[in-house]
Amino acid sequence: MLIDGEPWRTIGLAEDGWRVTIIDQTRLPHAFVTATLETLEDAARAIEIMQVRGAPLIGATAAYGLCLALRADASDGALAAACARLLRTRPTAVNLRWAIEDMRGRLAALPPGERVAAAYARAAAICEEDVAICRAIGDHGLALIRAIAAAKPAGEPVNILTHCNAGWLATIDWGTATAPIYRARQEGIPVHVWVDETRPRNQGAALTAFELLHEGVPHTVIVDNAGGHLMQHGMVDLCIVGTDRTTRTGDVANKIGTYLKALAARDNGVPFYVALPSTTIDWSLTDGVREIPIEQRDPREVTEITGCAADGRCTTVRLTPEGSPAANYAFDVTPARYVTGLVTERGLCPATAEGLAALFPERAAAAAG
Ligand code: MRU
Repeated sequence: MLIDGEPWRTIGLAEDGWRVTIIDQTRLPHAFVTATLETLEDAARAIEIMQVRGAPLIGATAAYGLCLALRADASDGALAAACARLLRTRPTAVNLRWAIEDMRGRLAALPPGERVAAAYARAAAICEEDVAICRAIGDHGLALIRAIAAAKPAGEPVNILTHCNAGWLATIDWGTATAPIYRARQEGIPVHVWVDETRPRNQGAALTAFELLHEGVPHTVIVDNAGGHLMQHGMVDLCIVGTDRTTRTGDVANKIGTYLKALAARDNGVPFYVALPSTTIDWSLTDGVREIPIEQRDPREVTEITGCAADGRCTTVRLTPEGSPAANYAFDVTPARYVTGLVTERGLCPATAEGLAALFPERAAAAAG
């Protein structure tokens, strides 16, 4: 998608053909800076400190992290150690495990001398597949927006609420929750997006707003607690969010606060959709609330906030009394019963085991046995 009118992707190879270039998302929206990854440790740290984040992008970065690891040492032991290091970076997004297992399965079967080239080829393919998947999610989700627009007075925008950043910055391109929005825009359907700020790391205020601004999509940033009020007053036609891990029964883990939006949506009759690539489905889990690991991050993300002045100088300030403890749960789980439907690359389905199995029969069968 566009930044200052120029097309970008979130990750790719540098001109030398082996180093990995990322957009440093910790600097957005105040500075647009790229970073270069040269080692396994660079890739692992980029995921841990959230220079890259968002479930699909975490997976793609891990895939390239394995490429960098194998350049240094392509032995069986080094491959196993690199997989273990990357798996420890963040616990909730299952795309990380998916990408590592996909890469490991292919690479372990090859002699060490062939692994580096094969790793780079597969990492690039994972990225291309993700772009195609997100584009397909956009096409399927577009139908939802089109139907809502058709029921509104001509020219009135479809008001869509989203949480966190499930945009192109969380994937390689297009995004998941944002892909239908970008497609609607391309089709000339008027849309307006309510952007939840998404404390504590403000991925909505910093990243989703940045994306939408650069794509020319009308939007308004709101505090996390505003969504219920807007829904009560008919100001939200549709919620679309992303997910970091969805069980085979349709329970959805996503950024903390998503569950409360789903409850408000149910109370107000607002459709609540979750957009996801099939790489985000954990076919081994049936009970999201009990089984999905929820990341807990540094409490300072809650007790402090960083902002930047017009001259570019950034400052971190304390929000809470010195001595008050804070807890930082990064994700929550929305039970499937609150999800109106899932938007996948193969189409829409109910958030149920049967719905997902109908769209992905081969994966459901493989998981069953
Ligand atoms: O902690 P983050 O920024 O990695 O969390 C991201 C989200 O919760 C996204 O909604 C999710 O990864 C979907 S990405 C298309």
